[in-house]
Amino acid sequence: MKRDILSMLDLPDLEEILDRAVELKNGQTTGREMGGKSLAMIFEKSSTRTRVSFEVAMTQMGGHAIFLSQNDTQLGRGETIADTARVLSRYVDVIMYRAYRHVDMVNLAKHATVPVINALDDKEHPCQITADLLTIKEHKGRLKGLKLAYVGDGNNVANSLLLGGALVGMDVAIGCPDGYCPDPDIAAKAASIAKENGAVSEVIRDPFEAVKGADIVYTDTWVSMGDEEEMAQRKKAMMPYQVNEALMSAAKPDAIFMHCLPAHRGNEVTDEVMDGKHSVVFDQAENRLHAQKAILIAVLNG
Ligand code: CP
Ligand code: NVA
Repeated sequence: MKRDILSMLDLPDLEEILDRAVELKNGQTTGREMGGKSLAMIFEKSSTRTRVSFEVAMTQMGGHAIFLSQNDTQLGRGETIADTARVLSRYVDVIMYRAYRHVDMVNLAKHATVPVINALDDKEHPCQITADLLTIKEHKGRLKGLKLAYVGDGNNVANSLLLGGALVGMDVAIGCPDGYCPDPDIAAKAASIAKENGAVSEVIRDPFEAVKGADIVYTDTWVSMGDEEEMAQRKKAMMPYQVNEALMSAAKPDAIFMHCLPAHRGNEVTDEVMDGKHSVVFDQAENRLHAQKAILIAVLNG
């Protein structure tokens, strides 16, 4: 049976994938794991990191990646997602999809006979969070027992962080304004998995309370792709959640600062924090490459 990765919940072997990513990063493998294999990458939205890291991952492992933007394919002229999935499955070994809507992600996976990897939709961003956990492990030496605070918009990244943190037994506190909190079903699921793994998963309003005692402080844009029309009201609601030096000082003295990027300097994070000694954002961006190699191997080679 094929293996789709649409959610963090599709990664029960997350710890093994992270171990594999470390080996790949250290060059302890042959580097031909994707020999002769092709990846189709469908992008409905913009991307720098996801596109380049997936394409380089395939090249470095002996495979090939094909970039498909919605507007340059027949999807943009009304061919259905189901038919696109059926056709691509006749050519390629795996499909990566960046979608506006999670329902479209599920639909593509349903009709594709090859594995589908979610490269961001309105609900989750599992590839990002796998790379984030790799980054935390590198900088902190472990995952279980740490506290991650995410402040700002309770978006796709926040949803996947809740689930990813819960799976590895890390405390996750989300600090978000009213009306901008993570998906309640995902938050409830994360809280129950966290409990089983001896951790706490919570969604609160006060950014300082969320960040208190944190080992990791994380934020993301206040205006995700698709939310552009709400720019002004979002900025107003989220300004108190800006990660600046005052908010960072509520975390542990050795806390690291993370951001999935792209960053909007002066909004969700200040220059001082982005460029400061706590920031690991470019290690985090690099780790997309290593983490996604491990994900590709897990879905194609088991
Ligand atoms: N973090 C992330 O997914 O970046 P891109 O939008 O550049 O791919
Ligand atoms: N939450 C952001 C992440 C971008 C990588 C978005 O969906 O636009």
